[in-house]
Amino acid sequence: MWKSVLTGTLIAALIVAIFVGGGCQVLLGLQSCSNTGTSLAMTMMSPKRHDYYVRKKVPLPYRNRRNPFNLTIGNIVEGARLYDLRCAICHGMMGIGDGEAGEKLEIRPADLGRSLGEPLYRDEFFYWSIAEGGTQFGTDMPAFKNDLTPGETWKILTFMRAAFAESNAPAKDATAPP
Ligand code: HEC
Repeated sequence: MWKSVLTGTLIAALIVAIFVGGGCQVLLGLQSCSNTGTSLAMTMMSPKRHDYYVRKKVPLPYRNRRNPFNLTIGNIVEGARLYDLRCAICHGMMGIGDGEAGEKLEIRPADLGRSLGEPLYRDEFFYWSIAEGGTQFGTDMPAFKNDLTPGETWKILTFMRAAFAESNAPAKDATAPP
């Protein structure tokens, strides 16, 4: 008797968890989100940043910058290390914007996989976003230009493209693998 009540409660809790997850399935602490759902992560991009980029592209000093680092294991591993150290706290280990510190922010961290899948966003977009942060758009995305060297910034992007990119097609301006 107690056993079935307990099982019933557990099943109900699981259903609630799946429902509340909105597009995400939460099972044994593992979360997997479908890309078509309207999970929180989907609404986290800064529309201001997007509008600025569509109208003006990046500021002159950043224009046409391209990642000089190849998609090698060494670059990816180094990028992963730096990402975990500097970015995961907000954007989450898998880049979907679910980092611990991001939860409290009014404008939530972007889902980086989604950003990488946006064909308009080229290398220059990512470099500029990481270097200048979100001050001009009133967001909490920090500026890393005094904290990360250009090489470190590019290696983080190399890692992000290898690990998070939704589309398997390489960005038009990404350097080809060796
Ligand atoms: C304090 C939390 C925080 C940290 C740490 C952080 N970010 Fe962000 N990031 C944000 C927020 C919030 C946004 C959304 C608002 C915006 O675009 O300015 C964002 C946006 C971005 C964007 C723009 C994406 C888009 O589609 O508009 C990129 C790229 C990005 N972050 C990369 C990084 C990288 C790489 C790191 C580590 C070097 C990092 N962020 C560290 C909070 C953070």
